[in-house]
Amino acid sequence: MNSIQIQGGVALQGKVRIQGSKNAALPILAATLLTKETSCIHNCPRIADVHRMVSLLRSLGCQVVWGEDGLRVNALEVCGRDMQGEAITGMRSSLCLLGALIGRCGQVEMEYPGGCVIGKRPIDLHLGALEQMGVCFICEDGKLKGRAEALHGADIRLPFPSVGATENILLAAVAAEGDTRIMGAAMEPEVTELVRYLTGCGARIEGAGTDTLKIQGGQTLYGTDFRICSDRIVAGTYLFACIAAGGSVLLEDAPVKQLEAVLQTAQEMGAGLCVAKEGIYVQAPRRPKSLSHIKTAPYPGFPTDLQSMALAVMTVGDGQSRIEETIFENRFRAAKELKAMGADITLLDERTVLVRGVEKLSGTAVEARELRGGAALVIAGLMAEGTTRVNGCSYIYRGYENICKDLRELGARIVSA
Ligand code: UD1
Repeated sequence: MNSIQIQGGVALQGKVRIQGSKNAALPILAATLLTKETSCIHNCPRIADVHRMVSLLRSLGCQVVWGEDGLRVNALEVCGRDMQGEAITGMRSSLCLLGALIGRCGQVEMEYPGGCVIGKRPIDLHLGALEQMGVCFICEDGKLKGRAEALHGADIRLPFPSVGATENILLAAVAAEGDTRIMGAAMEPEVTELVRYLTGCGARIEGAGTDTLKIQGGQTLYGTDFRICSDRIVAGTYLFACIAAGGSVLLEDAPVKQLEAVLQTAQEMGAGLCVAKEGIYVQAPRRPKSLSHIKTAPYPGFPTDLQSMALAVMTVGDGQSRIEETIFENRFRAAKELKAMGADITLLDERTVLVRGVEKLSGTAVEARELRGGAALVIAGLMAEGTTRVNGCSYIYRGYENICKDLRELGARIVSA
């Protein structure tokens, strides 16, 4: 089941419910390590990356059970050792275990975390901030080892609003002695969700949603019931799928407030949007309008995770579009595959592409090389003439619960093969 086969050219119609957010769920699952009581996490997506995080938590000694009402995690006993290498190296989000384990155990030992092959993805900001809080790191036997004799609060200024670094600092800071201030913090909704979970456990944090977070460390944390918000990237994926393939869909439970820049981009592409209590109604344009410039940026800017999908739409736009990726270099891996389908894309440098819209793409066999680029190829398949086979789909299943079923419910002819 590592391929997806799509018979293109069918307009999408109907409604699709948006799953829980992957990028909110993973740090929150790491945060459950900070309390000895049970937390119940509702609306947790059943995706490969969550299953990996669950197995990491189990290997650390946590009791984790999928129930009818959600995922129950109890971290009464945490041993801090024996984390399975593959789950760490294969998933960038395992990096948030760094802050959580430092917070819980005062020490951590892990393999260098991996994830999708997009850019260099260094972790200097994470390590530098935790060092300011009293953690000493060494790299030994290919492993990253950190230990804090006395974890303490600090004033930390991030030179770039890194999502992962902000999350790691938060996780360590709630357990540290004294107060921490994060200046230049990431404002992504997933950070706000982590703050909401920690606050629900009894942490004292001010400034959620702004670039300055103040954490009063050392509060006892309790278990809590928490509902993960819907996934803004999945909502954006299906939004762009509709613009590309045509038709009209309801994105049920889409997190409207988190999608401002995306909805604006969709409207500029010619989509008709109507926000209602139940979600977002999308009416696709006859042909997408090409936007002269699309540029990714930290939140509230246009998300890097939807750049490949916007690129896929622009391949059939009515003119020329320049797409600039400011977060990660090397994030145009889908471009080569889209070109194999007939797209006219020129790589100007590793952060910019020029796209000239063509009338139609043609189906062929393409290779997913990372999660979001893979989803963009599925979108391309939906609008292409003939059959598209997307290989390497294990990347896509890391972030989408059931992309084939969701799109089939919208009328697409798509199967996993
Ligand atoms: C990033 C995205 C996030 C997305 C996730 C998964 C941004 C700002 N972040 O989060 O929205 O959901 O990927 O695709 O859009 N960097 C350093 N040193 C560090 C950490 C980061 O130089 O220690 C640089 C990275 O190389 C990159 C940028 O900062 O250029 C983005 O980093 P960061 O936000 O930390 O990435 P993620 O947490 O993975």
